[in-house]
Amino acid sequence: MTEITKSAHGAWSSRFTFILAATGSAVGLGNIWKFPYITGENGGGAFVLVYLACVLLIGIPIMIAETMLGRRSQRNPIETMELLTEEAGADKNWHYLGWMGVIAGLLILSYYSVIAGWATAYIAKAFVGSFFDADGTAIKTLFDDFVASPVQMIFWHSLFMAATLLIVVRGVNKGLEKAVQWLMPALFVLMLLLVGYAMTTDSYFQGLHFLFAPDFSKLTSSSVLTAMGHAFFTLSLGMGAIMVYGSYLPKGVSIAQTAFIIAGADTLVALLAGIAIFPIVFANNLHPDTGPGLIFQTLPIAFGNMTGGWIFGILFFVMLSIAALTSSISLIEPAVAWLVENKNVSREKACIWSGLAAWLLGLASIFSFNIWSNVKFFDRTLFQLLDYLTANLMLPIGGFCIAVFAGWIMKQQHSEQELNMPNAQSYQVWVVLTRYVAPLAVFFVFLHVVGVL
Ligand code: TRP
Repeated sequence: MTEITKSAHGAWSSRFTFILAATGSAVGLGNIWKFPYITGENGGGAFVLVYLACVLLIGIPIMIAETMLGRRSQRNPIETMELLTEEAGADKNWHYLGWMGVIAGLLILSYYSVIAGWATAYIAKAFVGSFFDADGTAIKTLFDDFVASPVQMIFWHSLFMAATLLIVVRGVNKGLEKAVQWLMPALFVLMLLLVGYAMTTDSYFQGLHFLFAPDFSKLTSSSVLTAMGHAFFTLSLGMGAIMVYGSYLPKGVSIAQTAFIIAGADTLVALLAGIAIFPIVFANNLHPDTGPGLIFQTLPIAFGNMTGGWIFGILFFVMLSIAALTSSISLIEPAVAWLVENKNVSREKACIWSGLAAWLLGLASIFSFNIWSNVKFFDRTLFQLLDYLTANLMLPIGGFCIAVFAGWIMKQQHSEQELNMPNAQSYQVWVVLTRYVAPLAVFFVFLHVVGVL
């Protein structure tokens, strides 16, 4: 057995900061921007139900597994996989899992930063009063004009990427922790406020019905794949982000308990976003399947018409940008940690190179909303392709491998020791979910999508 020695890796100052940082990573554009629009595109209730089942049966066990792998090795994902493969006496090819994570992180970051740039741009729009008294049509024109302009989008994308790098460059304790401590509670309060506004529209129940009344006739195999992919995306699973965060987690902290807290908070924010958005959609005769612009075409209507909407609008988009920031730092961290720890690169240089790569690729997503909107592969624009490739394919494949590794390859004695659950039954439940339920679920969804079943 290989001795697991301590590395020169950073560490969280407490369990609470880990929870904050992992929640910061999980809660982001995925919850507030992506969840509502994909729910709208996939018909509502039934999709939401599948998504919730995926979070519970696949997401949480894999989150526990991924955190555990990171904490056991206390290293970056690539080294974690190298070390744990050796410890388990397993095949060297498992190393590639770490690699895929680093690459998936940069691919996601490229378009994530573009959308986060939209959120940041909307702070400015809120500030100058663009939403004031506006109706659905005016808000839609505002959005359409914005995404038609590559120059504006590049500006905000660059600004957001620079902010991400500034935080990441400062390292674990100074950068990551500080950024998340006050954000989560504030974001939560603003979401409640928006739900409050949604309740005053006369489409409140129609919105709730859309979200929570399942109509299974609307469920296709591709929407099941999207729901599953989103469970990975929203919990930041499958590419090593949570592994890296787990590697900074002090020994002795209960991994399972923290996973439940994080997944619970993440799901709550997504549902609140849905509850706030769909009533506004219906009240203004908008369409749920509007696509990636959905929240940018609905929430400003609420801000433009509610008392105090000016300040709430600014606050909301500030929060959304910061929520995106606490996620984007986790997308780049695996690449940075690896460059620093393996390639002897300074943290500054590691940030610049990884950031530059993601920034450049981000331009492709920007152009796919305007000058390249006709460039399509497999019927998808470059933005849609990147999203599909990462969220629907790479993350579930990464998660599948993590589950198989933690459930089958790693010695049970090691996982049991690392998880240190309060009783044998909880550990057994996790083993069953990680060995059988999660990998088989991912496998069958894939089979179904390729049409074998
Ligand atoms: N979970 C984040 C969100 O919902 C996005 C994200 C951050 C992510 N880190 C990740 C997704 C790692 C997948 C993997 O917005």
